[in-house]
Amino acid sequence: MIIAIPLERRPGELRVASSPDAVKKLTALGYTVVIETGAGLAASFTDLDYQDAGASIANDRKTLYRDADVIFKVQRPIISAADSELALFKQGAILIAHLSASSQAEDIVAYTEAGITSFALEQIPRISRAQSMDILSSQTNLTGYKAVVDAASLYARAFPLMMTAAGTVAPAKVFIMGVGVAGLQAIATAKRLGAVVSAYDVRPVVKEQVQSLGGKFLEVDSAVSQDAQTSGGYAKEMSDDYKRKEQATISEHIARQDIVICTALIPGRPAPVLVTAQMVKSMKTGSVIIDLAVEMGGNCPLSELGKVVTKHGVTIVGYDNYPSRLAADSSALYAKNLLNFFLLLSAPDSAQLQIDWDDEIISNTLVSKANTN
Ligand code: NAI
Repeated sequence: MIIAIPLERRPGELRVASSPDAVKKLTALGYTVVIETGAGLAASFTDLDYQDAGASIANDRKTLYRDADVIFKVQRPIISAADSELALFKQGAILIAHLSASSQAEDIVAYTEAGITSFALEQIPRISRAQSMDILSSQTNLTGYKAVVDAASLYARAFPLMMTAAGTVAPAKVFIMGVGVAGLQAIATAKRLGAVVSAYDVRPVVKEQVQSLGGKFLEVDSAVSQDAQTSGGYAKEMSDDYKRKEQATISEHIARQDIVICTALIPGRPAPVLVTAQMVKSMKTGSVIIDLAVEMGGNCPLSELGKVVTKHGVTIVGYDNYPSRLAADSSALYAKNLLNFFLLLSAPDSAQLQIDWDDEIISNTLVSKANTN
C-alpha cells in the first residue's frame, strides 16, 4: 500500500501534509511512503529527513501519483485543463486533505467522476475521540499565536511595560475579538509578551477563560448573550438590537487600544463586522489591526485579503492562509492530525485499509467514494 505526499502547488502554500515523524510511524507499520522531491523544504523538512524516516523520493508528480493508493495533501488538488493534479491520481485512490468541501461542490463532483475516494479533514466532528485529528484547532491555535507576533513586529512600540533610566515605556493595550481557539491563544501570547489584554466574544461562557489567562472580558449585554451559543459551541448570528449595543461598547473601548486581533466567525455565514471604518479612525496613529476573519469577509471592512494596508494611520493586516506563515509547526501538527485520522482507516496491525464506513468520524468526512473502496 503506497502513500504519496506531494509538494503543495496552490499559491502561498508552504505547508506539507506529512512530517518525518509521521512518516516514521507509517513506514514502521509497513506502509510504503513516497515524497515528491522538495515537498517539505518550505516547512524546513529536507528530502533526507524523509528518507531517514523510511520514505523514498519521487522526482516528479507523475511518478509520485502513478501507483499511489493514498494521497495526503494540505489543500484540495488543482483541477484545471492546463495543470490538473487530480488527473494524475489513479482510479480508486484515496485523497485526504482540507477539501473546503462545503464551498467547493464542483470539486466534489470531479472527485466522484475521477473515481476517487476523498475525505475532507475540515469536517472532522468536534467530539473528544476526534480531538487528535482536529486540523481546524491545530492550525487555528498557531494562527492566534502568529497574529500577535506579527502585530508586535509591525507596532513601532514595545509590548511590555519598561521602566528605564531614559524613561518609562507604557505596555501595549491589546484587544482580542472572538475568543475561540485562535482568540485564546492570542490572549495567552499577548499576555506572555507583557501587554494589557482585553477580549470580547458574544458567548459569555468564555468570560472565565479570558480571566483565567489574565485578560479582561468586555461585556455587552450578558442577559441577551446567554443565548448566543449553539449546542455545538459555535456563535449564533445576533439580533440587530444586540448589534447596536455591541457597536457602542466596542467603539468606546477600541479608541483606547493599540492592537486589535479580530478572530470572530460564525460557521456558514459571513464574518460579523465588528470594527467599522469610524472605529478605525478613532484609533491612535501607529495602531495595528490583524483581521484573521478576512477570508470570510473580515471583521473590519477596511481589511484587504492578502494585503497589509495603512488607513487612517492604522496598519491593517489581511493575510490569507495564516497557518502557512508558520509552516514548520503547522505542518508538524497537521501531519499528526492526518496520521491519527489515517490510523482510523487502517487495520490495527498491518499495512492495510480496514474502513468502518459507519464510524461517525469517517462518515462525516467522506465526500466521494470510489466503487472499488
Ligand atoms: P470560530 O472560529 O467559529 O469563531 C471564533 C470565535 O468568534 C468564537 O468564539 C465565536 O463565539 C466568536 N464570535 C462569533 N461572532 C462574534 C461576534 N459578533 N462578536 C464576538 N465574537 C464573535 O470558533 P472556534 O475557534 O472554531 O471555536 C468554536 C467552539 O468550538 C468553541 O466553543 C471551542 O471551545 C469549541 N471547540 C471544541 C473542540 C472539541 O470539542 N474538540 C475543539 C475546538 C474548539
